[in-house]
Amino acid sequence: MADGEFLWGAASAAYQVEGGWRDGGRGLSKWDVYTNDERITEAVVGVQHTGNDAINAYDRAQYLKDIALMRDLGLNAYRFSVSWPRVLPDGTGEVNQTGLDYYSRFVDDLIAAGITPLATLYHWDFPAGLFARGGWHNRDSIAWFRDYAAVMFRALGDRVRHFITMNEPFIDIFYMDLIAENARAGRSESRRFTSEQYGRQAPALHNLFLAHAETVAEYRRQRQGGMIGIALPLSPTIPVDPASPDDVSAAHLVDGVINRWSLDAVVKGSYPDDVVAALKAHNPDFSVSDVDLATMKANRADFVGVNFYSPAYVRADPNSPLGADRDINPDTVKAFNGPVRPAALHGLLLRIRDEYGNPPVMITENGAGFGDIDEVRDGDAIHDPLRTDYIRRHVEATLEAKAEGADIRGYMVWSLFDNFEWIQGYTRRFGMVYVDFHTQERTPKDSFYAYRDLIARHRGAMVRGREAG
Ligand code: GCO
Repeated sequence: MADGEFLWGAASAAYQVEGGWRDGGRGLSKWDVYTNDERITEAVVGVQHTGNDAINAYDRAQYLKDIALMRDLGLNAYRFSVSWPRVLPDGTGEVNQTGLDYYSRFVDDLIAAGITPLATLYHWDFPAGLFARGGWHNRDSIAWFRDYAAVMFRALGDRVRHFITMNEPFIDIFYMDLIAENARAGRSESRRFTSEQYGRQAPALHNLFLAHAETVAEYRRQRQGGMIGIALPLSPTIPVDPASPDDVSAAHLVDGVINRWSLDAVVKGSYPDDVVAALKAHNPDFSVSDVDLATMKANRADFVGVNFYSPAYVRADPNSPLGADRDINPDTVKAFNGPVRPAALHGLLLRIRDEYGNPPVMITENGAGFGDIDEVRDGDAIHDPLRTDYIRRHVEATLEAKAEGADIRGYMVWSLFDNFEWIQGYTRRFGMVYVDFHTQERTPKDSFYAYRDLIARHRGAMVRGREAG
């Protein structure tokens, strides 16, 4: 692959695809606990599903067939994540060489297929033993994560030139962990949170951002010459009633907490004042030291990973944290992760260009699922016109922003294969390839062929920074 070539890829995460949960010396993560403790699994996942087997990607015979599909698709990049407890079963201390060998061989197999590996170091599978010691709430987590990352830099850094420290810190801390906390407490509505819960999570997210900065510093100390970034869940906000000052104000605050907090932290090394004030209102003890901010400012990401699915429609709601309800989808045919608005991605990319100094950007996740109406088997074919249309329109929005000067380096579809979808288990399919979860048989959907054609059309014509022709 030519140096600087635009990366056409797909994304995945260890817990969602690997399986082999007890194989090769792997330790347990918090998600193994969530999904194998039947007292809480249904409250967390919605169904009694686990990632114990997932889609068998820990099996090399399996993943070599999957890599062959990546080649058929025309990918020149693939984003995967490393299971922290597969490499460090206790989270710290002794390295599990079998776990390291798996990732090293996977990287070699990707490269042999002409596919650039992008490695996410943390996609929510926090080691269970460390989670029991407070997880990200424990300030020691900063060193735990940095030291784990240092192991991975030494093991893969000669071949992996794009590291992503973490995936969606905000969702991990302010959504998934709170769902699990509610499930453990036996609360009937596990997916509704209180102001007190929001306030309590703020210091934990701060520790994640600090761990990210300390890890960036470690990567640069190792002088490996690649790029290191972070994958952020970004959802531009839209007031439900633009004429309502309350809706407009609520949308601005939600934009601050979801978008500006993360972007300012990793690109500017600062926090928005309105966000800190709002979080202090939920937790008067929440504070951020100048030393911490200086660490973040001194160790900013080389690129911003943008996980985009949809904008967030927001209306004022005094009964919700932040005084805002953002779980609104006005679409008639609803995508799992929110309303389909590719123009919102285009606008977000230009906003990052204009308000954050046009940093290198990677679309690290973008995709959709619509349920059974969009998984129609027809002989050997599987028709998914809605996903196909979604991907086509968001690729167009991405390339349009790139043509307008946004420094976009790549686009990764979530996801290549149907897989374990966190709080919906295997009931929500996002893949361009259908997976029979009983037989592990893979069947490309129409969206697979459409993405292949999109890549073929654009890949040949593109050179860094503009679309030729
Ligand atoms: C996320 C995660 C993915 C999800 C995907 C589909 O963005 O929530 O990174 O692991 O599976 O987004 O919801």
